[in-house]
Amino acid sequence: MTFVVTDNCIRCKYMDCVEVCPVDCFYEGENMLVIHPDECIDCGVCEPECSAKAIFPGTAPGLDYWLALNAKYAPVWPNIATKRDPPADAKAYDGQANKLAKYFSPEPGLGD
Ligand code: SF4
Ligand code: F3S
Repeated sequence: MTFVVTDNCIRCKYMDCVEVCPVDCFYEGENMLVIHPDECIDCGVCEPECSAKAIFPGTAPGLDYWLALNAKYAPVWPNIATKRDPPADAKAYDGQANKLAKYFSPEPGLGD
């Protein structure tokens, strides 16, 4: 199994998760990150690092959409293993409802 990044990462993108991943399997979109399901070793250390509580074990119920989204974009977005400053307005978006429909961008981020 893999861990998975979900809705509340969008426009928060705190990036504390990338600092702890032992296999550097985070990939960066314009306004969120995803985890590569074939590279994640299921260690779980990233989950408590995310203050937005956006990371879950892929075995949790109801995550089919997010498992597919992580698997779709991880191979096409650039790798990121070094934390940068989060967006200046990250806090304003933390916890908003329906961020996927309102704000998701399929565009790649900068990567390392
Ligand atoms: Fe990386 Fe472990 Fe998180 Fe998977 S569970 S993304 S290997 S820190
Ligand atoms: Fe996103 Fe949380 Fe990482 S907000 S960038 S999953 S620390």
